[in-house]
Parts: sequence; structure tokens; C-alpha cells
Amino acid sequence: MRIGILGTGIVGRSIAQGFVLAGHEVAIGTRDVDGLMARTEEDQMGNPPFAVWHAEHDDIAVTRYAGAAAHGELLVNATNGAGSIEALTAAGEENLAGKILVDTTNPLDFSKGFPPTLFVANTDSLAEQIQAAFPSAHVVKAWNTMTAALMTNPAAVADGDHTLLLCGDDADAKAAFTAIARESFGWKDVVDLGDLTGARALEAYVTLWVRAMGALGTPLFNIRLVTAS
Ligand SMILES: NC(=O)c1ccc[n+]([C@@H]2O[C@H](COP(=O)([O-])OP(=O)(O)OC[C@H]3O[C@@H](n4cnc5c(N)ncnc54)[C@H](OP(=O)(O)O)[C@@H]3O)[C@@H](O)[C@H]2O)c1
Repeated sequence: MRIGILGTGIVGRSIAQGFVLAGHEVAIGTRDVDGLMARTEEDQMGNPPFAVWHAEHDDIAVTRYAGAAAHGELLVNATNGAGSIEALTAAGEENLAGKILVDTTNPLDFSKGFPPTLFVANTDSLAEQIQAAFPSAHVVKAWNTMTAALMTNPAAVADGDHTLLLCGDDADAKAAFTAIARESFGWKDVVDLGDLTGARALEAYVTLWVRAMGALGTPLFNIRLVTAS
């Protein structure tokens, strides 16, 4: 399947790599290809410059946002939350139309330092804002509740025995993404929280995630939903 990833940070890179390992054909999108490839500094988390990473992943095409969106039959939004509407606008609504758009973003606001707050919450979510701005796309909120390394490699903790939470308004899109998550990446437990208003809870969860990471001293963890039966 042709996959278009919007975003070149650790999430975009990890998901791109995961899809390639699973046999998919991936393009990754950015604002400015030359500018991206010319960067020499590590990011704030110590990840290498994009060009260093890409030298070992040169089977992944690097394009502007519109090129990656046009390439993909399934799209992943892995852009910074504050820049997502801008990024998707650059991708072009015509390139999003009728496609699954997996939204991994969190609406983080670091303007007052750490821990971050949310720039949209409670009665709205970034995923809903994206869906409203691009009504012809089928937004599936997923993957935002875990660190990048687990998204396409759940086996990295607890033998993969933990939960992928998702939501969205389009049942077919959710079913198709769930099948990919299971078959391409080995997710065993996928829980559908219902329509896209569930993104309010999924995005708010990041505040708990940040506290848990501080307590555990590692981002390599996830939740598992358990019931009595
Ligand atoms: N890091 C994690 O483990 C993790 C886990 C769960 C969810 N998330 C969420 O996943 C998303 C990606 O996170 P990340 O850590 O990989 O990277 P990030 O630094 O949050 O985002 C990097 C990407 O956002 C793009 N971008 C930033 N500002 C933009 C703007 N104004 N217009 C258009 N594009 C813009 C960058 O474009 P260029 O390529 O042009 O620089 C780059 O592709 C975020 O929403 C984050 O909250 C992250």
C-alpha cells in the first residue's frame, strides 16, 4: 500500500520506518525538502538531523507535504500540533479527499514551560478541528497515547500485550486502520472509543502520560485496558 507521512520528527520517521518494514511504499512530507536536508543540528530530544537518519532509510521518498499526501492511499499526520492545520493546508485538501488520515498529534502548548498545557481541550480537540477543516478526509485519531517507538512496534514492551486506543467518525476508516495495525504491526488489543469526540479524552491523556513518564523514568510504556471478563 502507498503511505504518505506528513511530518519528519521522531513520530514521522518511526512510522515511516514501520510501514517500510511491513512492506509498504512510503513518502514522507515536510515544508521544505532542501531546508530539511541541510539541517545539521539534533532535535531537542537528541534525535539526529533528518539527513543522517534518511541516509539509512533512503527507500523512503522525501517530498513537500503535497507530494507525500498525493502519494499516499493512507495518510498519517505526524506534524507538530500547533502547525497541523498549516501542514494539512499545504498538503492540499484534494490530496486528502476520501483517504484515511491517521492523526497522531497532541495539542501541546509549551509557552509556559514544562509540563505543557493543551491549546484545545474539554469541549473540542485538535482532531475535530482537523476533521472540520478537511471534511473530505476520514480522520482516525490513534497512536497519540504512546511514544513513537511503540506505534509500529508494540512488541517493544510487554510482548505487545497493551492497548491501542482510537476513535473517529468513519467506521470503515477505523476498521481499515485497525486491520493494518493488527496485520502490519502486530497490535493485539485495539479499542475503538467511538466517534471523533473521543479525541478530547485521547488528547487530554497526554497530561497523564507526561506525569507517568516522569515517574517511570522512561517513555517506553503503555496502558492496557483490563476488565473482569
Ligand atoms: N514524540 C513522540 O513520541 C510523540 C508521541 C505521541 C504523539 N506525538 C505527537 O506527534 C506529532 C509529531 O511529534 P514529533 O515529536 O515527531 O515532532 P514535532 O517536532 O512535534 O513535529 C515535527 C513536524 O512538524 C512540522 N511542523 C512544525 N511546525 C509546522 C508548521 N507551522 N507548519 C507545518 N509544519 C510544521 C515539521 O515540519 P518540517 O519537516 O518542515 O520541519 C515537522 O515535520 C506531535 O503532534 C506530537 O505531539 C509525539
